[in-house]
Amino acid sequence: MKQTLTDFQNHYRLLIDQTLFKLVKTLKTPKLLKDAMIYSLTAGGKRTRPMLTLAVLTSLNQKINEEILKMVSAVELIHTYSLIHDDLPAMDNDDFRRGKLTNHKVYGEGMAILAGDALLTLAFQVLTQNTSNEKLGFELVKLLAKVAGAIGMVGGQVLDIQGEGQRLPIEQMQKMHHLKTGALLFYAVESGLLIMQFLDQKQGKVINEQIKKHFLIYAESFGLAFQIRDDILDITKTTEELGKTAGKDIAMEKSTYPLLLGLTGAKDALIQEITKASEAIASVEKTQPIFNSKLLQQFVQTLKVEAT
Ligand code: IPE
Ligand code: IPE
Ligand code: MG
Ligand code: MG
Ligand code: MG
Repeated sequence: MKQTLTDFQNHYRLLIDQTLFKLVKTLKTPKLLKDAMIYSLTAGGKRTRPMLTLAVLTSLNQKINEEILKMVSAVELIHTYSLIHDDLPAMDNDDFRRGKLTNHKVYGEGMAILAGDALLTLAFQVLTQNTSNEKLGFELVKLLAKVAGAIGMVGGQVLDIQGEGQRLPIEQMQKMHHLKTGALLFYAVESGLLIMQFLDQKQGKVINEQIKKHFLIYAESFGLAFQIRDDILDITKTTEELGKTAGKDIAMEKSTYPLLLGLTGAKDALIQEITKASEAIASVEKTQPIFNSKLLQQFVQTLKVEAT
């Protein structure tokens, strides 16, 4: 296993970037659409979701090959589409993303909507065309469809829009965050377990119901922590640091953790989720010594923000 998470990320970021680029570059489609898709896809981005799946696989000793890289990249196509649509004037109306102008600012709203649509659809095409184990391909498509749609990310975005101008109670905000952001991160972890179970008969057996439960607690808390952190950084960082407009949530009267709990309260909630995730993954190592928790522990710790 690569020594640290930073080594791991440096190594795989390049491979994920290349995989994503190739998936779109080879499409026979109007140049303008392809340019718009590539524009957002290659604008940078931390690649958190595919990286998380790779970390799950690596922690279970699974070797990463080209086929797996394509499989894990599918969720990044969905994530990038969700950002393009999230930035549209009809939604968060943002001018900057990943340090560049937003898609609609460069290509116009119509093309941005279509680039998003095409990335969304491509994710499923990638999973069906590149997974030699058909049953695994089916399971991944089924799971991704669930987390990305009306009962997942899209449903969460609806709650986000409906929550504008309101102070949603904590339970509702938690639900919104779990759906709009947590759902794809949850997929990132669960799809790793599915890949293991289907591709590695021996290692896959290690993942019994109890171990799966711990992984999924980790996934859920990671997802919630990720959005609480995003809400905090929206207030505490600059536009240059974020690569997207800072202070946007207050301007849009969004329901956020800092709005409801104050900055300190939001930071406490963030620590709580990080701890929960960390304890869950530590439990896996206790029951399954073959599992190496180091990468996943380090990964969730990257979500910490400076103390108040
Ligand atoms: C931003 O996601 C939107 C949220 C779900 C909070 P990321 O913070 O993963 O954005 P990129 O992909 O690194 O640009
Ligand atoms: C993002 O939430 C959720 C998505 C599903 C895209 P935000 O609206 O807070 O994300 P940013 O701050 O624009 O990246
Ligand atoms: Mg939004
Ligand atoms: Mg937004
Ligand atoms: Mg935000």
